[in-house]
Amino acid sequence: MKLYLLLPILELFSVVLSATVSFPARLHDGPVVGEFFSVGNNLDGPKISPGPANKTSFDWWHFDVASANTKEYIAIVFFNAGPEGYKTGVKDTPTIVDFTGSFANGTEFHRLVEAQGGATISASEYGIVGAWHGSGCSFTGTSLARGRSVYTLAIASRTIGIKGIVTFQSRSPAHYACSPDLPSVNEEFSPGVGWANAIPDAIVDVDLRVGDTSFKFTDGIGYHDKNWGVKPFSMSTVSWYWGHAPLGPFSVVWFQVNSSERGTHTAGYVAMEGSILQASCVQDSLDITPKKVDEHGVVRHLSLRFKLDNGTAFVAEVTTQSVVLESSKFDRMIGTITGGIEGQASYEATTLFEATKLNTANISYNYLS
Ligand SMILES: *[C@@H]1O[C@H](CO)[C@@H](O)[C@H](O)[C@H]1NC(C)=O
Ligand SMILES: *[C@@H]1O[C@H](CO)[C@@H](O)[C@H](O)[C@H]1NC(C)=O
Ligand SMILES: *[C@@H]1O[C@H](CO)[C@@H](O)[C@H](O)[C@H]1NC(C)=O
Ligand SMILES: *[C@@H]1O[C@H](CO)[C@@H](O)[C@H](O)[C@H]1NC(C)=O
Ligand SMILES: *[C@@H]1O[C@H](CO)[C@@H](O)[C@H](O)[C@H]1NC(C)=O
Repeated sequence: MKLYLLLPILELFSVVLSATVSFPARLHDGPVVGEFFSVGNNLDGPKISPGPANKTSFDWWHFDVASANTKEYIAIVFFNAGPEGYKTGVKDTPTIVDFTGSFANGTEFHRLVEAQGGATISASEYGIVGAWHGSGCSFTGTSLARGRSVYTLAIASRTIGIKGIVTFQSRSPAHYACSPDLPSVNEEFSPGVGWANAIPDAIVDVDLRVGDTSFKFTDGIGYHDKNWGVKPFSMSTVSWYWGHAPLGPFSVVWFQVNSSERGTHTAGYVAMEGSILQASCVQDSLDITPKKVDEHGVVRHLSLRFKLDNGTAFVAEVTTQSVVLESSKFDRMIGTITGGIEGQASYEATTLFEATKLNTANISYNYLS
């Protein structure tokens, strides 16, 4: 038998081997189980089982992209979340797609669509397909194996007036908080919260219409990750710094969470031309220092210092250009980042990042409130 005759059979097999979950838009009534130790080929797959989130659990697929040259940015999150798991503001439907962004003139937008038909998610070594039925929103991604995967988001929602395609072309390999994408590694970042970063850095093409406005750019700096947990996010997570950027040949991601249970958790990621130089959650592998905070508690300047696996330091300075999402708890910002390997060439780029407000005594845990 010639090989090409075998291919359809192998393809059939891959369908059988891929894990597909399909569930209605109804909260699970009872306990759910979270995946906190990696299984092969499921870095970006569903992390809570048997299917829909219960009241206090959450699993989400986050995508964001900022234009390198304008004020345009959009973050798109596919949720499977209970109302206490993550406070999206939706009570009875776990399957939601949430959009936050800003137009070229700096005006912000926020729209949310419920997927009344539930969701189907299929993940395998060949990639992922996620469809949030009835929302008009879906995503597909190719294999994460070589750090060059392509993710496509297809959006067509009359309800919220958003339509079009967003394409992410990854520049660097996927990872977990403490390691590259391997089976049987820890996936828990802070107590009770899992983190998997399928696309640390991507070149993104955005071709959308938001209402009557054309929302199109090809200079997108993008990123995709997921978080999940089986107890309320707000119970475990007190504050965070998080951000990503391309810097010349490098891709960097920083993440720090202060947890109500157990102290500070930090994960740093640096890749160069598609090879990982650091993917570590070891305490001293990354220092994040706020250098300037304004009178509203907004971080204006952050210093980053990564210790690469070979011992060399990678340093970067992040300065806020515009706050594109402001809540009582945290700010999402577009900024400028400059940096590189200490003592070597320095690069400059646009970065999208978040920081919890630093001087607010009375923090509300309500997302976007
Ligand atoms: C949801 O699942 C978690 C983890 O299994 C469990 O502790 C919690 O009680 C469940 N919540 C409900 C409302 O069943
Ligand atoms: C900015 O652009 C958006 C989208 O076109 C528009 O709806 C909004 O009114 C504009 N805001 C200002 C202040 O011009
Ligand atoms: C976490 O707490 C440490 C120690 O108080 C502090 O230095 C750090 O800035 C905090 N990080 C965040 C993300 O709030
Ligand atoms: C560590 O790796 C970086 C990136 O390849 C390189 O520039 C640096 O010189 C290396 N440091 C050592 C001590 O080998
Ligand atoms: C904190 O905010 C809540 C809700 O907005 C309010 O009821 C409470 O009085 C505030 N507490 C302080 C100390 O400001």
